[in-house]
Amino acid sequence: MFEITTHPVPEAVRQRAYLKDEDYQRLYRQSVEQPETFWAEQANTFLDWFKPWHSVRHEDLRKGQVSWFRGGQLNVAYNCIDRHLARRGEQVAFIWEGDNPSESAHITYNKLYSHVCRLANVLKQRGVSKGDRVCIYMPMVPEAAYAMLACARIGAVHSVVFGGFSPDSLRDRILDSDCRTVITADEGVRGGKYIPLKANVDKALQSCPNVSTVVVVERTQGKIAWVEGRDLWYHEALSTADNDCPPEPMDAEDPLFILYTSGSTGKPKGVLHTTGGYLLQVAMTHKYVFDYHDGDIFWCTADVGWVTGHSYIVYGPLANGATSLIFEGVPNYPDASRFWQVVDKHQVNIFYTAPTALRALMREGEEPVKKTSRASLRLLGTVGEPINPEAWEWYYHVVGEMRCPIVDTWWQTETGAIMIAPLPGATALKPGSATRPFFGVQPALLDEQGKEIDGPGSGVLAIKASWPSQIRTVFGDHQRMIDTYFTAYPGYYFTGDGARRDEDGYYWITGRVDDVINVSGHRIGTAEVESALVLHDAVAEAAVVGYPHDLKGQGIYAFVTPMKGIEPDEALKQELLAMVTQEIGSFAKPELIQWAPALPKTRSGKIMRRILRKIACNELDTLGDTSTLADPSVVEGLIEKRLNT
Ligand code: WT7
Repeated sequence: MFEITTHPVPEAVRQRAYLKDEDYQRLYRQSVEQPETFWAEQANTFLDWFKPWHSVRHEDLRKGQVSWFRGGQLNVAYNCIDRHLARRGEQVAFIWEGDNPSESAHITYNKLYSHVCRLANVLKQRGVSKGDRVCIYMPMVPEAAYAMLACARIGAVHSVVFGGFSPDSLRDRILDSDCRTVITADEGVRGGKYIPLKANVDKALQSCPNVSTVVVVERTQGKIAWVEGRDLWYHEALSTADNDCPPEPMDAEDPLFILYTSGSTGKPKGVLHTTGGYLLQVAMTHKYVFDYHDGDIFWCTADVGWVTGHSYIVYGPLANGATSLIFEGVPNYPDASRFWQVVDKHQVNIFYTAPTALRALMREGEEPVKKTSRASLRLLGTVGEPINPEAWEWYYHVVGEMRCPIVDTWWQTETGAIMIAPLPGATALKPGSATRPFFGVQPALLDEQGKEIDGPGSGVLAIKASWPSQIRTVFGDHQRMIDTYFTAYPGYYFTGDGARRDEDGYYWITGRVDDVINVSGHRIGTAEVESALVLHDAVAEAAVVGYPHDLKGQGIYAFVTPMKGIEPDEALKQELLAMVTQEIGSFAKPELIQWAPALPKTRSGKIMRRILRKIACNELDTLGDTSTLADPSVVEGLIEKRLNT
């Protein structure tokens, strides 16, 4: 076992930080004892309102009903841009670093205003109005952020779809939220490879008759097909658009965006976030968890296609008038030193990434890190999956040279913003622990009966009071939201994660307790991969589980039963991988596919995933009771041919 050492708050960090431990204790207590007073004060401090709210919070977690700042009006783009112009017009809002190390750009708040207003006017001209959904399918270029903010400015609801998703996934998401407008680019560039985004959109739109506008950003000038009347070039449309566009006054509870995420069952859910509460909590966590000070350069390496990019590349930083770095590339291109070279080039002060990236870089040794200076770095962060203490210590010693605290931030697409994380000036760090709840967040550990566990212990992680950036609904299916998050443990929000609380009240997230697999920080539903596999004519049945993977955190292990008479071979395996790529995207391809003449089932025909998980994890001594199986001999055969030994 790796020895866990506690790292106390360094004096220099404490001195500089907004909040010391006594502040955390006092404010946390106030946030749970007098939430209305606490949040009203924060909402006035962090945001500009066109109209004040008449009530701070309504909640009925049993029904999954919450609202924050009812009656209040504001606009997210106004808060992220306009109100900064007087003081920060010429300050850089976004630094863009291209995939190619020789390409970068600086976008000031004034320039940002102009882009966002002109694009907003283009959308309006094309008939987009308040409440309409707009799909954004973009590479990591500044225009992705402009598109989000242009939607927010006119009250349109964006649905960003990660550029790694296949045309089929894109189509499903466009149809589910009935987007009539798509904003994309000719091609994306990542790690020197070109991604045919416009071609993917064209394919997806073959089955989306309602889409009448496709705005195309010119990124590579690659050859693309063109549909007259439907498609328009971003640069051409903006060149004649008006430079001002009044921000639409939005109710605090008006939708801001939809973001699809995977769960344990069925197709991806459109998680819906609203305006006031969301912006408040992303702004506040960005300032306090990262201890962001004026002038700091903040770099979150996520893609804007995921919630991390929404909250900590775009909305949180801009609400605080920050400088945020948008990186188009990948950690190992042109080589494993890239992250640190970018840190030096742009003098990054705060760096926020995923454990999977750190584990991959760790394998390359210290030299690619050590050859850079990194003197500008002051704070490091992680997100997306549990960080193993070895990777934490490497990050701390090699990257941060023991000078930079690491904030391990636990949260989810559904929580909108950081929920459990250290505050750098207040919290002693324990490698692998997300430490303590943020203001207003009340975690609870529940046992199998749904009873709260007091003090140290382990259980299912739930949240027992509403927080401002909470999911409001699953788009088009409110009942599904109630069933997924508010039914298993009435009165609580169910996170889907397991956790342990130690004697200091610190939380240690142990991973998902449902059928969600976390591959390199990407959330993948086992049901989605299974549905893709069984689409193949040669497949009778498939069951998918996760297993520990050195680099990716978890890998996907598929047990596949071929149709009678089919001799499975390598060619079939390749076809199945292609099927998953087509249906979801290549990031969801199983690492391991084991042919299974039959799957272990109960007498009522239910697949015993618990047993498959044990086989995939090679944990045979804890296989548990197999006597309830319809045919226990099936398990023997699977164990014998298991692939992860
Ligand atoms: C799931 C949410 C929210 C940002 C990116 C992922 C896992 C997230 C941590 C962390 C341990 C973490 C959980 C969670 N997770 N952060 N610091 N420590 N696990 O968002 O795709 O909605 O996934 O990621 O399992 O439920 P997401």
